[in-house]
Amino acid sequence: MPTITIDGKKLDFEPGQLILDVAHDNGIKIPHYCYHPSLSVVANCRICLAEVWAPNPRNDNKLEPIPKLLPTCQTLASDGNVVYTTSPKATANQKAVMEMLLNHHPIDCPTCDQAGECDLQDYAYEYGRGERRCDTEKITQSKIDIGDNIMLYGDRCIMCTRCVRFADEISGTSELFIDGRGAKEYIDVFPGIGINNELSGNVIDICPVGAMLDKDFMFKQRVWFLKTTPSIDPLTSSGDNIIIEQNNNIMYRVKPRTNLEVNQYWITDEVRYGWKFVHDESRVTEINDDAEMVAADMLQQAKSVALLVSPMLSCEDAWLLGNLVRGLDSNAIIGVGPVPIVGEDKTFKSGFTMRSEKAPNARGVQRALGNALDYDAWKKQVGNADMVVITGNYPEAWDTPEITENQTLILIDTLANTLTERADVFLPAATWAEKSGTFENFQNKLQLFERAIQPIGESLPEGQYAMNLQALVDDCLSTTFNPATVRRRMADAGIAGMLEVELPKNTNRVTTDMPLSEV
Ligand code: SF4
Ligand code: FES
Repeated sequence: MPTITIDGKKLDFEPGQLILDVAHDNGIKIPHYCYHPSLSVVANCRICLAEVWAPNPRNDNKLEPIPKLLPTCQTLASDGNVVYTTSPKATANQKAVMEMLLNHHPIDCPTCDQAGECDLQDYAYEYGRGERRCDTEKITQSKIDIGDNIMLYGDRCIMCTRCVRFADEISGTSELFIDGRGAKEYIDVFPGIGINNELSGNVIDICPVGAMLDKDFMFKQRVWFLKTTPSIDPLTSSGDNIIIEQNNNIMYRVKPRTNLEVNQYWITDEVRYGWKFVHDESRVTEINDDAEMVAADMLQQAKSVALLVSPMLSCEDAWLLGNLVRGLDSNAIIGVGPVPIVGEDKTFKSGFTMRSEKAPNARGVQRALGNALDYDAWKKQVGNADMVVITGNYPEAWDTPEITENQTLILIDTLANTLTERADVFLPAATWAEKSGTFENFQNKLQLFERAIQPIGESLPEGQYAMNLQALVDDCLSTTFNPATVRRRMADAGIAGMLEVELPKNTNRVTTDMPLSEV
């Protein structure tokens, strides 16, 4: 295998790899603005330049310096090359690039929403100078509203063109373009046409500075107060990897988490902004004191039971509910709740697909329950049961079933709906953000999501209710719902895949502590 030496480390690489990629794969940091692993290479920001020495075949393969610094984001690694990213020449270039960028930049970090997660700010500490040496005129551009979710602060833009390339190459919608030339160039949208495609929010994430900002998150929190938890898309069958950011048990933001096999670096705006139901005012989070006791009595007295398990629930929740009901009625009528389908799958230019199936775990619930009826078949049979247990946890109003007056209903749900008043017992459920568990996506990939916030009010995961009711029925003490233990029990019960659940790999955690560089 060919090797390259970067900053004194001899490293193997695959032919075709960029020097910057080889460095990053091996834990060597090279500053970069315009480079992004999924976008075309433009090499316009010049901060990743390094000193490269190469063997000269006309001089007995002796190492000789290439006269100019080379952009490591554009230069392929070559066998025997020696690269210096911290040599005096490379360091002088990094400082010069930073000086030029900061001469034009408003340096309004105290009021900028990107502060704390800004590459310009981080690199100013790590690679810049500690002082301003000249007083050139700042570029002044007013902020513009360029889309439903995005505000562009043009004077903070460093013209890396990541956003323009994203709209051209990933979403394929090309709403953004560069207007003007040289020091007068700026990013803009066409008059009357904003950037409102279904992936638009991703340009906020890839903008390395505070130029593209998220209107929804703007001025709500300083990023260093946020705690980050890895999670999975709770709204569609995509299984997109995400992070949830919260402070004091309040969610503020959802962002993509890199998983090249599932969502690459991206999420849809639907997933990015679709979590608001967690803190929705119509959510019911109080429980009557004796609700679980009454529910357990009803279940024990029932002659026949029907159970509807929502595809919004985790595999673990579904399995525990199924066990509870089958233990009471071996012929229980068990079904999977409605799986909303909205339009058709939409595939973008890069191959990223937005799923029309608006439920995260229809396959996982079916796997956990085994031979459950689909919703239409369940609705035809539910009239045969005198006791009905229904779970919801949908992010909005859902297609609730008809329950007759002579049937008893236990409802475990989040948002108020037509069944909430009708229910004989209502048990407030915790949303996905308030529990951990497993979702199975459209690729049959089982992925773990972690709890980001504590359950709101008195709500509990459906799995915990199943355990509490089981304990009341068995007249013993209940234990705390632990999805990892439940998965082991599921595996012991012969449910395939439960011990191979994928754990979160990359949490994109923000680091804000930086050493001050020597001038
Ligand atoms: S707005 Fe951000 S992503 Fe777009 S060119 Fe400017 S700095 Fe780069
Ligand atoms: S990251 Fe290499 S030139 Fe911009």
